[in-house]
Amino acid sequence: MDKLQSAEYILTTTRAVRKRLDLNKPVARDVIEQCLEIALQAPNGSNMNTWKWIIVDDRDKIRKIAKIYDQAMNDYITILGDATGDNYMGSHIPGAENISESVDYLRKHLAEVPAIAFPLLAGRLEGASVFYQASLWGSILQSVWSFFLALRTKGMGSAWTTAHLFREQEIADLLDIPANYTQVGLFPIAYTLGTEFKKGWRSPVEDVLSWNTFKQ
Ligand SMILES: Cc1cc2nc3c(=O)[nH]c(=O)nc-3n(C[C@H](O)[C@H](O)[C@H](O)COP(=O)(O)O)c2cc1C
Repeated sequence: MDKLQSAEYILTTTRAVRKRLDLNKPVARDVIEQCLEIALQAPNGSNMNTWKWIIVDDRDKIRKIAKIYDQAMNDYITILGDATGDNYMGSHIPGAENISESVDYLRKHLAEVPAIAFPLLAGRLEGASVFYQASLWGSILQSVWSFFLALRTKGMGSAWTTAHLFREQEIADLLDIPANYTQVGLFPIAYTLGTEFKKGWRSPVEDVLSWNTFKQ
């Protein structure tokens, strides 16, 4: 069986793809639409289907988005202040140096990606109850991950990014997103350079799981 059709292989090796995005190979709209059709099978509250997805493949808009992303990254670094380098909260994670190099690569090359997806949830969460927050996020995040998995089965990849949300309004203005929608993230879409990926480092189950009661 083709490895890309094995659920366990796809689930354990779908990674944040940045340096291995193929920036030279175009992605046809119909392939992206097929992936979205798969993704929209994800569960969502009361099956309301209030989600919206904007996919940008206009080169001029992608360049503008990349500029906003770059500026938003600067905002993030400014906010981090001294909490960068060895002081960064994730600096102890195995492979941390590769992550920052990879983040930097995407930042430099975002203008070259074939397409970018912006899933939107219908509503705003400022001051919302935990129930409302969980219901709204839970009605979109699963479709986004399904979209990642669907891309992977077709030899494509993405990277989950949220940094642009420091400048959410600038993207909303560029893409005419109404004020009552929330952007979930910014997801580059491209074929990957090679389709073999390895498992990433994650905490082992015994560090994460407790049975019947919370364990620190
Ligand atoms: C909520 C969330 C926000 C993220 N934001 C960014 C981002 O703004 N820029 C970026 O390059 N990567 C971002 N990432 C990607 C993570 O760095 C990546 O998923 C993590 O390093 C694990 O990568 P792996 O799955 O390849 O092991 C984000 C991931 C998540 C889940």
